[in-house]
Amino acid sequence: MRGPRDADQPWKEAGAARFVDPRLQALSWAVLAPNPHNMQPWLIDLADEDRIDIYFQTDRGLPQTDPWDRQLTIGFGAFTELLVMGAAHAGYQAEVSPFPDGAPQPKLDGRRIVSIRLRAEQAQADPLFSAVLRRRTDRGNYALEPLGQDVGGAIAAELRNPAGFDLHDDEADVVALRDLAIRAFEIEMRTPLTWMESIDVMRIGRAEMDAEPWGLALRGPMIEFGRLVGAVSRESLADPAGAGFQTGLDMFNTAIASTPAFVSQVTPGNSRLDQFETGRDWLRLHLAATRLGLTLQPCSQALQEYAEQAEPYAEIHERLAPSGGTVQMFARIGRANAFRRRRAGRSKLG
Ligand SMILES: Cc1cc2nc3c(=O)[nH]c(=O)nc-3n(C[C@H](O)[C@H](O)[C@H](O)COP(=O)(O)O)c2cc1C
Repeated sequence: MRGPRDADQPWKEAGAARFVDPRLQALSWAVLAPNPHNMQPWLIDLADEDRIDIYFQTDRGLPQTDPWDRQLTIGFGAFTELLVMGAAHAGYQAEVSPFPDGAPQPKLDGRRIVSIRLRAEQAQADPLFSAVLRRRTDRGNYALEPLGQDVGGAIAAELRNPAGFDLHDDEADVVALRDLAIRAFEIEMRTPLTWMESIDVMRIGRAEMDAEPWGLALRGPMIEFGRLVGAVSRESLADPAGAGFQTGLDMFNTAIASTPAFVSQVTPGNSRLDQFETGRDWLRLHLAATRLGLTLQPCSQALQEYAEQAEPYAEIHERLAPSGGTVQMFARIGRANAFRRRRAGRSKLG
């Protein structure tokens, strides 16, 4: 069964020769950046000849799960880091000026998020760049096996701010963090306003993905089949008594139970710049893990700043930032389990 066409196109066209302007070359990579709910909230102004200004498209916010636009700002950081790498690949150095008109608080507004100037000076190629097209958020089941020796050190070595990064693979920590992730996810699902924020941007199957190639994608043969027979629908996903809702919860629980380790990023403060820098490093972290054959899924629910999530929020901060600071990212890390690895191997051969 074929996959989506338009929604996957940017992954096929990144770096294409038809993007003659180096700014478009760099941007063709940047648009592949990980970002919350895949809202792709970037508005791009090709300002002067060599300048790119990035703005926030205010109708792409997540007011329920990200009331202060903290996660969206992380997404802009990831976008910028990928832009810098894409520019270097095209032979340009990128000069990054975050929040040149001031850092918007308490929410993002119409001011520039970042202004980037490209200079025709050979920049150092980034070894992480080779993993860009293989990096995807992986919500599947992982193998319950050790990650390998000093994975934490290998990832930290690729980061701009290694001090903010941590790998949690101690058995007792992992058990407690799995439990916390599950509780927080269930709160998000059972809080109608926050769960509907996901449902509203859920694309079920390739036709919906192609029609609106942003938002959260449910894809694959089982989804196409479920959609056709009416088993997977927005209604059954939204309704706590519906089969889709229960399947969503079960799938998350199974995925978490299969998680051998977690990673986190913590900043001492929580300024816009802290959030933006976290995003630059989140992209680097994800690429470094990809290069090591590992795979990731952020589990952001416990980090979200709405009333129902207050307990998991306090608990995750006690665990991961005991001496203060803000936990900006929290994610599961591992390898696809043996069944998925075999299937991937077969489809490559076939
Ligand atoms: C700040 C941030 C928070 C995220 N939180 C979650 C999350 O809680 N659960 C999840 O499955 N994915 C999460 N993601 C991953 C995005 O949904 C994903 O990057 C986006 O859908 C694009 O897909 P891709 O990463 O496969 O390109 C998060 C990403 C970012 C940058």
